[in-house]
Amino acid sequence: MTRPNNLRADQVQPPQPQVAPVAPSSPVPLRPLHTFGLESYADRLVQIDSTAALHAYANDVENGQGCLLLGEGSNTVFVSDAFRGTVYSMALKGRQYLGCKSGKHRFRVMAGENWHQFVEWTVASGFPGLENLALIPGSVGASPVQNIGAYGLEMCEVTEAVHVFDLQTRQFSVMSAAECRFAYRDSIFKQELAGRCVITAVDFALPVEWTPRLEYGDVKARALAMGELKPINVMKSIIGIRTEKLPDPVCLGNAGSFFKNPIVPDALFQKVVADHPALPNYPSIPGHRKLAAGWLIEQSGLKGFNLGRVGVYNKQALILVNLGGGQSSELLDLIAHVQSTVKAKFGVELEAEPNLVG
Ligand code: FAD
Ligand code: EPU
Repeated sequence: MTRPNNLRADQVQPPQPQVAPVAPSSPVPLRPLHTFGLESYADRLVQIDSTAALHAYANDVENGQGCLLLGEGSNTVFVSDAFRGTVYSMALKGRQYLGCKSGKHRFRVMAGENWHQFVEWTVASGFPGLENLALIPGSVGASPVQNIGAYGLEMCEVTEAVHVFDLQTRQFSVMSAAECRFAYRDSIFKQELAGRCVITAVDFALPVEWTPRLEYGDVKARALAMGELKPINVMKSIIGIRTEKLPDPVCLGNAGSFFKNPIVPDALFQKVVADHPALPNYPSIPGHRKLAAGWLIEQSGLKGFNLGRVGVYNKQALILVNLGGGQSSELLDLIAHVQSTVKAKFGVELEAEPNLVG
């Protein structure tokens, strides 16, 4: 570069920035963004509403920035005062009826759609099959992560494919249900692909021929009491049961079941059931039995137990609640207390179900 002769070196100005410097943004409160409602903050919040936003997320990951993907925060609990990094909030919207093929109605639903609204829409539009999963909080995009399930149905049973954006290769691809390796409250997205990809949409296939799932508790009796055994009445009975049993996060912070129902080897099951014949238990993977964690916690004397401003819900012991103003340290102490008490009494380990961040 040639310098004009009349300027000395110390008079040369540095290049001026093209845009004004960005003022440091104030921390983003996370309390409204997760249903347990603990106080915490993130550095930044970014909506994922476009392909460009997916690439911005991938850039942050590549640059080693702290990143967290959030749907509606009903299975995520922030257990530290601050999350150092950016929270990416899923906001891809849209749902589409793809037509009927091989006896199944097919749907494509974007990840940022609300799960319950999708279920209601299918039932109201004459496409039954999802009614047992009504009123589960959260986004469609998170539903494959832990393979949501309730009242005799898991989402994997009606899932055909999951659309993903790979944060390393930056490629979009479609995974078959088999490739997702769905299991009880588990999938490849909680294992090998954890933090590696964004689920952008899910394809569902609902059989044209309706086969109601009525085995759980009084689902059938409630539906019949409404007049007729039809999908809308099954959905209403599920909503009724859930409303009576589970706390509404708007009124009482919670993350649903806080522990998975433990899957234990047959030998341990035989030992526990010999001493406690009333232990509720269910079939599971070969050589194992699934136990009811809520029962184990209640029998350990912890139903309604409070520790500071958090506690074990007094109507359903598998749910931990924020009584208002709960601290993350209190929650961590409560988790440890529940786990060690149940372990000491029954010899069974309880694993937390929600994603604990921090
Ligand atoms: P978030 O909490 O936002 O995210 C959960 C996890 O998924 C995080 O690790 C997050 O990073 C990841 N994630 C979110 N979106 C994406 C995406 N697009 N791509 C990749 N990863 C993603 N669960 C059941 O299975 N059955 C129930 O009956 C049930 N009942 C509940 C009742 C209550 C009152 C509450 C509060 C929760 C309940 N849950 C239940 C748990 C919860 O509703 C589900 O796990 C739900 O799918 C979480 O959705 P979300 O969008 O809120 O997920
Ligand atoms: N139980 C007790 N005491 C309690 C709670 C439960 O004895 O305080 C007993 C019940 O009497 C019953 C058994 O435990 O015999 C199972 O209880 P329930 O039917 O209420 O279901 P759960 O096993 O506690 C699971 C899911 C829920 C899902 C319901 C209905 C898990 C971890 N939880 O709860 O999912 O809605 O079944 O299908 O699998 C969630 O994942 O967040 C969730 C809410």
